Amino acid sequence: SRRQIFVTRELPGSALERLGQAHDVSVWPHRSPPTAAELLENVAGCDGLLTLLSDGIDEEVMQAAGAGLKVISNYAVGYNNIDLEAASRRGIRVGNTPDVLTDATADLAVTLLLGAARRVREASQEVSSGDWQTWEPAGLLGRELSGRTLGVIGMGRIGTAMAKRMVGGWNMKLLYTARSDRPKVDESLGGRRVELAELLRQSDFVSIHVALCDETRHLIDEAALAEMKSTAVLVNTARGEIIDQDALVRSLRDGGIFAAGLDVTTPEPLPPSHPLVKSPNALILPHIGSATDTARHEMAEIAVDNVLAGLNGQDLRCEVNLA
Ligand code: GLV
Ligand code: GLV
Repeated sequence: SRRQIFVTRELPGSALERLGQAHDVSVWPHRSPPTAAELLENVAGCDGLLTLLSDGIDEEVMQAAGAGLKVISNYAVGYNNIDLEAASRRGIRVGNTPDVLTDATADLAVTLLLGAARRVREASQEVSSGDWQTWEPAGLLGRELSGRTLGVIGMGRIGTAMAKRMVGGWNMKLLYTARSDRPKVDESLGGRRVELAELLRQSDFVSIHVALCDETRHLIDEAALAEMKSTAVLVNTARGEIIDQDALVRSLRDGGIFAAGLDVTTPEPLPPSHPLVKSPNALILPHIGSATDTARHEMAEIAVDNVLAGLNGQDLRCEVNLA
């Protein structure tokens, strides 16, 4: 029988049509996310929700949906916006969209690493503002990559894809943190698992690829930044809350590190007047890690498959479980 689904935003491709053939789908029609109140109103009586990372799905939302809610399908690999414990208590399955965005996100991490290392923001700004006067022997000097050390925080799918690119393309030495050794990574990429403090001290480039959870919130704080080389570049394509942003602003200002490339911030968007946005050595993008045509279409297919399976009481194509 047809069930009621609320989808918090239009998605690219035809996946939502597929969902609409089987069920009654209502799609939030606006470009900006529903407010908390609008969310509560729209989920009432729903059997399934298809949500974005910008939607906070807490117990109140689940309660507002009612006892029929079977599945929450997040259009993202990350799911820190969903209260997993509450979902689990209520027997609600939670899905995400991993794998199909791994390459896109690793590519963006490379983009940020190179862009921050070569001061692309300042350089582009000189051209657009008319400040660029002439070719200068010592103008806009950046950091070179080849043979240097990359530190990957969190050697999951995206971290591994990032490491492959940097080791293969720039012959970098690789350090990483992970919960356990990755013998294949050590063998094929010459990686070595170390403690975070050692990674920060030794690395010329540090790229963050852990999920946001209580243990990783402000993982990169004042003390962590102080461990880093003054020539180092920090890249974050995971979640903004992993970095203590006030500490990062100070470090960028005081020469604690060379530059940062960020696809994620707290909040999103950051106001243009925020000191991080004003920092010339912070290259900031609007959370576009998975923003390729291929990835966003594939994510929609998985998210819809997850809803359909959940409504049928089946295991999801990509199901998130309590650790
Ligand atoms: C994007 O940040 C995602 O989690 O997919
Ligand atoms: C996410 O896909 C990760 O494991 O890095």
